Amino acid sequence: MNNQPIETHPSQITIRPFKITDVDDFILWAGDDQVTRNLMWETITSREEALAYIQDVCIPHPWRRSICIDDRSIGFVSIFRESGDDRHRAYLGYAVSREYWNRGVATGAVKLAVNQVFKNYPDLVRLQAYVDVENQASQRVLGKSGFVKEGLLRKYSNVKGQIKDVGLNGEFSATYKAPTEPVLNFREWNGNCKDMRKKHRRQYLCKFHNTPCLVRKNKGADLEHRIQHVRVTNVH
Ligand SMILES: CC(C)(COP(=O)(O)OP(=O)(O)OC[C@H]1O[C@@H](n2cnc3c(N)ncnc32)[C@H](O)[C@@H]1OP(=O)(O)O)[C@@H](O)C(=O)NCCC(=O)NCCS
Repeated sequence: MNNQPIETHPSQITIRPFKITDVDDFILWAGDDQVTRNLMWETITSREEALAYIQDVCIPHPWRRSICIDDRSIGFVSIFRESGDDRHRAYLGYAVSREYWNRGVATGAVKLAVNQVFKNYPDLVRLQAYVDVENQASQRVLGKSGFVKEGLLRKYSNVKGQIKDVGLNGEFSATYKAPTEPVLNFREWNGNCKDMRKKHRRQYLCKFHNTPCLVRKNKGADLEHRIQHVRVTNVH
């Protein structure tokens, strides 16, 4: 008899937001210690807990998707995005029902998630995942999904009371382009500098210095020399 697991065709795998009606499917995998073993959350032990978790955690989550086969929940994939100046970076997490392990489900779902999340957040540049060095299956998932191993963080994660060495893995947006600043043509510009600064309050790429400059008018000079370039680092 051939005991090899049957590969799940990628077209069978979908990801979508969680629904309250996922509760009975959800508990089948979220109630399994083997599935939650490497996760930050505890195994779900009752239907009520499952309902509360879907309602209070999964549904309000900014980007948590149910991994589905035939629209039935068999796992999750989520992205946690940093805020403020670090909004360009997000973390990836996932798990799959034990029944479906080694059929390519996590890899299929991670690929879908990576594709969607870079579209959903055009200013997201980097996705990263921390993986326990002993979690070979998860490292393989990341490798197959295009993540690159970047380093080892020793004694880094505390997972359920155990301090673990973890590998850091990263993937980057293929489409991200840094916003380009408009080029100000100084010779054509004859507006009032004070107004311009108030109105636009942004950096212009100085065509003379090819560097971000705050442009000021310097009274009394001829047109070309009326421009005073002040190098700035942070103008919003
Ligand atoms: C990690 C996990 C999501 C993988 O899901 P999956 O659907 O089985 O993943 P895939 O089938 O897409 O890929 C698994 C790969 O790991 C390989 N693998 C599995 N166990 C392995 C092991 N012990 N050693 C080496 N490779 C292993 C499989 O052979 C497969 O690779 P292949 O396609 O080259 O044969 C799943 O095991 C799981 O839910 N684990 C618990 C939660 C978890 O660890 N989440 C990740 C936290 S970072």
